[in-house]
Amino acid sequence: MAVKNIQYKTKQISEYFTTNRIKWGQFYPSEKWIFEKVAGTDGKMGKILDVGCAAGGLGLALRERFFVSQYVGVDINAPAIEEAQKRKVKKNCPSQFICGDILDIHQLPAEKFDNVFSLSCADWNKATEDIISECWKYVRVGGHFILTLRLTPQKSLLTLSESFQYIYFGKGAPEKKQGIEKAPYIVLNASHAFSLLSGLQPKPDRIMAYGYWGAPSRTARTKYDRLVFTALAVRKSDHNLKDVSCELHLPADLFIRG
Ligand SMILES: C[S@@+](CC[C@H](N)C(=O)[O-])C[C@H]1O[C@@H](n2cnc3c(N)ncnc32)[C@H](O)[C@@H]1O
Repeated sequence: MAVKNIQYKTKQISEYFTTNRIKWGQFYPSEKWIFEKVAGTDGKMGKILDVGCAAGGLGLALRERFFVSQYVGVDINAPAIEEAQKRKVKKNCPSQFICGDILDIHQLPAEKFDNVFSLSCADWNKATEDIISECWKYVRVGGHFILTLRLTPQKSLLTLSESFQYIYFGKGAPEKKQGIEKAPYIVLNASHAFSLLSGLQPKPDRIMAYGYWGAPSRTARTKYDRLVFTALAVRKSDHNLKDVSCELHLPADLFIRG
């Protein structure tokens, strides 16, 4: 039976993402590197689908820097989508927001988006692999799937019982607060991640990645004390190449099991 994703109800997401990750300068160096690579010298981002868009900050940040012809955001958290809708009206930004689990949304056209994003989304819910395949479905031939993943040379951590994050962005210990929701804090073994991405159908022809070691989030409870925070772009091929080429800027010890 398919794994059911968690439908987050908390207002923590909308409160945090209304002011955070809404400007270019608030994104990580790994993400900015990948965005620049994908946009290329003409700076075109085209039609964007942002899966797990929260309050839609990515759309604003990308518009500071690139030409965006359409921005569609999907999020499972209703308060985040309400916030995104309010801001859309205030800023008069052409965009569309949909509330729901990306696995249950059926109104969007397949293979029509130039760039599909999952920034901290696929690895922040239960059905990580299904979310990845679903995002891939929306990428046009020749377009990119841009995602972030937490990588390790050790074993993947795939369930909430092994690894989770309190959805809490305030001060103090989340354990002491009432009603704080938890999200799976999925960590992928590097080979597992690359075999998953290179095995997507239809096949990609190129994967670019940029990542570096860092400590897990303060609110995460996970067994590794360091992870490689990685931004990746996977390109959908227009021909059936056998090999997937890679451009990787990753620490070499990510591939050496300790
Ligand atoms: C950690 S937040 C990241 C927000 C934003 N992408 C960013 O990087 O700034 C993850 C978001 O993904 C959303 N999300 C998680 N699972 C989802 C799903 N299956 N479908 C749609 N949204 C989902 C959450 O509600 C949350 O807003």
